[in-house]
This record gives sequence, structure tokens and C-alpha cells, in this order.
Amino acid sequence: MERDPNSRSESRPSAHPHPCTQSLDAVEVNRLYAEKDYLEAYSEHTDLRVADDPRAAVGGMWDRLGSLQFEYLREAGLARHQSLLDIGCGTLRGGRHFIRYLDANRYTGIDISPATIAYARDLVHEESLDEKYPQLLLCREMTLDFCELELQTFDFILAHSVFTHLMPQHIDECFRHIGTVMTARTQFFFTFSMAQQITRDGFKNFSYPERFFHELAQRQALIVREPPYRFDHPRGQRMLLLTRSPSE
Ligand SMILES: C[S@@+](CC[C@H](N)C(=O)[O-])C[C@H]1O[C@@H](n2cnc3c(N)ncnc32)[C@H](O)[C@@H]1O
Repeated sequence: MERDPNSRSESRPSAHPHPCTQSLDAVEVNRLYAEKDYLEAYSEHTDLRVADDPRAAVGGMWDRLGSLQFEYLREAGLARHQSLLDIGCGTLRGGRHFIRYLDANRYTGIDISPATIAYARDLVHEESLDEKYPQLLLCREMTLDFCELELQTFDFILAHSVFTHLMPQHIDECFRHIGTVMTARTQFFFTFSMAQQITRDGFKNFSYPERFFHELAQRQALIVREPPYRFDHPRGQRMLLLTRSPSE
């Protein structure tokens, strides 16, 4: 069944969650990951979590991790007039800071979870940010080929706490297509959890060796490097920078 991303009823947290939500969720979540394609299951899982608590649904630490993303890109040079693509924007933990700061029509957030996009649209209204006209798009096909962006390009791209939940083939797809939304000067910052080998922990947590990203980038003639700005993630995520040219 098609889930309507504009439906308010899907997007709001219940004021009084049913006391059985936790155990019902556990059964439902197991079933989702057992029966569905990974991204479909992850998207539906996120929808369930947004209905329960939209701030916890994207990992919690709403204020701290929202500000961290914003301050980081500001230090990296994000200016008000520049454009930002927020891949996996979720419920706008970081997005609300970017939308407030950037000029109108400069923020684009994409996500595969209808409930996050619906919540994000409501939040923009609640926080009186309508006049910033953020573009909030649901990736219905759950691909990372950026077709829905119709060849728009961006000054900055961010994927914060997204590759931490994606399988190698999804990140590979992202790297194969990211060039279509980049100019020669675009800076794409992304976070990941580091491990010696590719590791899956539980249903939806993935860790990678840094070389994994270098190898994917090399295949597309892109460059990955450690950015010169300090990134103090409370859960130890690392930040890398992908560009087309070594001087950006
Ligand atoms: C942990 S949340 C982080 C949200 C936000 N970036 C932040 O840090 O506040 C990860 C988000 O990425 C989204 N996501 C995962 N895979 C995606 C994909 N292939 N395309 C777009 N969004 C995706 C999820 O639906 C979820 O909302």
C-alpha cells in the first residue's frame, strides 16, 4: 500500500504511546527484516520509530547532533547563499538548523522514509520556516541515483549517520551516481563508523574500514580525504570529504 508522505496522522508522535508499543515493535521489526528487502524493511522500521518518537527515530541526541552537523559545515565554509543536499535528512535533526540559516530555496533533504518526510514538512511549518521553501523529497524508488533531483547540483552535500545504516551495495550506488549532483567544487561530507572489516551489528548498523570509501571513490575518479576540521561525534563516527578535485 502506498504510504502518503503528506499525511499528518502518520507523521505525529503519539502523546501517549500504547504501553505495548515496545514489544509489538520487536515482533514487527523482526518480521520486517526477515521478510523484506533491506531498504524496504529499514524504511518501514524508521516509519514505526517516527510514529513513536520522531527525535529518537533518527538516533536521538536531537540538539547535540543537530548542532554538531550545522557547526561543522559552517566551519567548512557553508555560506547562506550556497546550496545543500542533505542525504537521509530524517526528521531534520540537522536540517532545521540548515534551513533556518540558509537563504530560501537552498536546502534540499531526501529520505526513503515517508514518515520522516511528512514529519519534516510539519516541523518546517511549526518552526515558521515555510518561507525558506526547503525542498523535502521522498525517494520512492529507494535508490541512491538522485534521479528525483533532475540534475540539480549543490555546493555542499551531507550524509550524516546514513552510511552507518547502509550496506556496501547502497554506498557503491551512491558513489556511482553522486557525480550527477556535484560540480567541480562541490564538497560532499559523510560520516561512517570505523572497523577493521565491513561489519554488521544487529539489524541496521554497519561499520567500514576507511579504505572501502577510498576504493569506491577511485573507481569513479573521485577523491576521498580526511577533512581539516575537527569532528567530535559523541558516538565516535568519523567524517570524510569527497570531491572531484584534490584542491577543493
Ligand atoms: C540515522 S538517520 C539520520 C538522519 C539525519 N541525517 C541526521 O543525522 O539527523 C538515517 C536516515 O537516513 C535515511 N536513509 C537511509 N537510506 C537512505 C537512502 N538510500 N536514501 C535516502 N535516505 C536514506 C533513513 O530513512 C533515515 O531517516
